[in-house]
Amino acid sequence: MPPTRIIHTPEEITRIRRAAAVTACVRDEIAAMARPGMSTFELDQLAGELINRTGGISAFKNYCGYPGNICISMNDTVIHGIGTPEQIITENDIISIDVGVKIDGALGDTALTFGFKEQTGEVKRLLDGTLDSLMQGIAAAKCGAFVRDISAAVEKAARKHRLAVVRDYVGHGCGIKLHEPPEVPNYTGWGKGPRLEPGMVLCIEPMLNLGTDSVKLDRKDNWTVRTRDGAWSAHFEHMILITENEPEILTWQKTM
Ligand code: MF3
Ligand code: CO
Ligand code: CO
Repeated sequence: MPPTRIIHTPEEITRIRRAAAVTACVRDEIAAMARPGMSTFELDQLAGELINRTGGISAFKNYCGYPGNICISMNDTVIHGIGTPEQIITENDIISIDVGVKIDGALGDTALTFGFKEQTGEVKRLLDGTLDSLMQGIAAAKCGAFVRDISAAVEKAARKHRLAVVRDYVGHGCGIKLHEPPEVPNYTGWGKGPRLEPGMVLCIEPMLNLGTDSVKLDRKDNWTVRTRDGAWSAHFEHMILITENEPEILTWQKTM
């Protein structure tokens, strides 16, 4: 039977902690350098250079054939958007960047969604509500609780903010491989999942929509996931370590 969860060794955790911190740093540098007028391809190239400078490599490039250095998902794109020279960023867009860096045999994986102006109304509700849902999920990730408790906390917060939870993609264990067990859904109704134990490393990553939860895969590139109704979507992701006390956010940095 495949393992239902992975408990990392202290030696692994030392490397995972470093990889996660590097990834968070790159995430924030990319977000700070993104400007209206740039193409998403330029942003991806910039990300490639920043990752290179860390001494690590992109954890996403060539993963199952993924062509980009990072995932760049604008507006109605939920996740896995690929930067292209034709797609020009404007000040009215919101952009999710999802960054993965592999360094010294360990990985970080983290995402955030941002815009360029002071947000109001629906878009503000989407961005603030999705980040809040992530933070509520993290707060529920206490040693002794179950994966389901994380899912329930995310789902409850999403409902409070009147945002729809994408069900086709989920969070996951992480650390030595990009996707490790267990899965961490942003919704309940599937069971309890494993109990949270010190040494587990989880990526919690709500993908929330202003419209319905239904999404579709781009038929040409087979990667880009968009909302079916065209309503906008946001995605925030932190990597956390389960400890005997509060969870440790391994991808904590200044922008989130
Ligand atoms: N970063 C994504 C996640 O959070 C995985 C991206 S895989 C890629 O799980 F191939 F699309 F890059
Ligand atoms: Co990610
Ligand atoms: Co992830």
